[in-house]
Amino acid sequence: MSSQTPPSPAAATEGEGAGPAVPWSGEDGRRGPFRVGERVQLTDPKGRMHTIVLEPGKRFHNTRGHIQHDDLIGAPDGSVVIHSTGAEWLALRPLLSDHVMSMPRGAAVVYPKDSAQIVGLADIFPGAVVVEAGVGSGALSMSLLRAVGEGGRLHSFELREEFAEIARSNARAFLGGDHPAWKIHLGDLAEQLPATLPAGSVDRVVLDMLAPWDCLEAVAGALVPGGVLICYVATATQLSRVAEAARDHGGFTEPKAWESMVRGWHLEGLAVRPEHRMHGHTGFLISMRRLAPEVAAPELARRPAKAGSDADVSAGGWTERFAAEDWTSENLGERWISPKKLRRVRRDQERQERLGSTRLERD
Ligand SMILES: C[S@@+](CC[C@H](N)C(=O)[O-])C[C@H]1O[C@@H](n2cnc3c(N)ncnc32)[C@H](O)[C@@H]1O
Repeated sequence: MSSQTPPSPAAATEGEGAGPAVPWSGEDGRRGPFRVGERVQLTDPKGRMHTIVLEPGKRFHNTRGHIQHDDLIGAPDGSVVIHSTGAEWLALRPLLSDHVMSMPRGAAVVYPKDSAQIVGLADIFPGAVVVEAGVGSGALSMSLLRAVGEGGRLHSFELREEFAEIARSNARAFLGGDHPAWKIHLGDLAEQLPATLPAGSVDRVVLDMLAPWDCLEAVAGALVPGGVLICYVATATQLSRVAEAARDHGGFTEPKAWESMVRGWHLEGLAVRPEHRMHGHTGFLISMRRLAPEVAAPELARRPAKAGSDADVSAGGWTERFAAEDWTSENLGERWISPKKLRRVRRDQERQERLGSTRLERD
């Protein structure tokens, strides 16, 4: 059981088609000269970045002076623009990874390095039917949408309506509209998935939530034989519990787990060395394949030991040692995001969206 309260079934809505009728821009929005209403990332001579939304006649101000938006509108991506002080500033269209790291967020996002691994190692292919839960701020959703493309389908399940709205707004800000392959469903994945999609119709499932083990039965029912389940979890205790639950379920191959650490490098003259700072930990990934119906995985020559010490094993491993209500954000060291904080994020987004739609109308 998750510690978060799902909305009542009556409150369930679908995300598709909601909100302003912004045209879907897809790949067109990623190419060509800078357009009115587009986000542009400016880098000053000290390497500091500023993101602006282009508006005719407007100026971007900093403490030293300004840059004219009109100098950028119609200029090619990768231009250099002259600041009123005479300094040269670089102007680039933000990449998805830039957007994810700077967009408003309600909960921890899946970092670009982990999204890339999920897309690659879960083999998310163009045209695939993918299920994701939860949506959070929509960071992973955008990578999944890119991978499935317009011919695929991404069904994202989310417990909290505020998160669904934040994710939708973040995706619109980057994609320029509602992606045709995306549907957001409100509610608990464990309950909603069997009620929403036919059994055996989903190619890939990606879970980023507190208690993915609660969803294994629903996921096993939805996946095609050979389909991939990948879970992103923040702690080793969650990793262990989901592995044990998958083995106990019996409908999956032996789980594989890994983590990745990316260390940036400083490249300046002879000072070529690793950066002093890095993200030491983001999350663990654990993946497995769905077996065909009624099939049991072949016995391993070396049966993996249960999680924990011998004493833990005799006490039943993680599954029995901790009650469902122990798996809370607080116990796992995650910050609880208050409804007040989410309302503030939404208010900021709505202000940005209002500015954006004024610009589109004028366009
Ligand atoms: C860490 S956030 C997901 C972040 C997201 N992957 C991203 O990249 O922005 C976890 C989300 O899972 C949702 N959640 C937790 N349990 C769920 C469940 N059983 N069904 C659907 N959503 C769930 C939470 O409300 C929360 O929004």
